[in-house]
Amino acid sequence: MERTFTMIKPDGVKKALVGEIVKRYQDAGLQLVALKLTRLSRDKAEELYSVHQGKPFYMELVDFITSGPVAPMVIEGDNAVSRVRDIMGATNPKDADKGTIRGDFAEEVSENIVHGADSVESANREIPIFFNDDELVG
Ligand code: RTP
Ligand code: MG
Repeated sequence: MERTFTMIKPDGVKKALVGEIVKRYQDAGLQLVALKLTRLSRDKAEELYSVHQGKPFYMELVDFITSGPVAPMVIEGDNAVSRVRDIMGATNPKDADKGTIRGDFAEEVSENIVHGADSVESANREIPIFFNDDELVG
């Protein structure tokens, strides 16, 4: 069993895709452990994306992720990290397969609907930015 962190970005919430995305994860047999609708403070956005600090797209990324409500969640299952990323599709929607979240719903790399932790270590760092232990109830 593995836990991962994934989050529907402001564009996904705005396009009313929360239900659709949760359903895709659950239909794949993954378990929902925590889910909420929230807004990211600038501090938390910078913490989430600290690995990208200094990159040309960093400012745009932090501006975008704080621009509206997001839906963070914790997902559990065998190989949850890589399976969630497979369901999300490639970072750039232009490279994402049809049938993936980004392939079906996104157009631009800067607004690509979902975030997913890229390793168990990243998930363990990202989950506490959004959830207290007593909120992990699944
Ligand atoms: P994420 O962290 O959002 O799940 O996506 P990822 O691992 O596939 O991509 P990552 O390299 O971690 O980049 C984080 C987010 O930054 C935006 N990005 N923009 N303009 C660009 O060249 C560029 N490159 C990355 C994307 O929104 C990406 O999801
Ligand atoms: Mg990433």
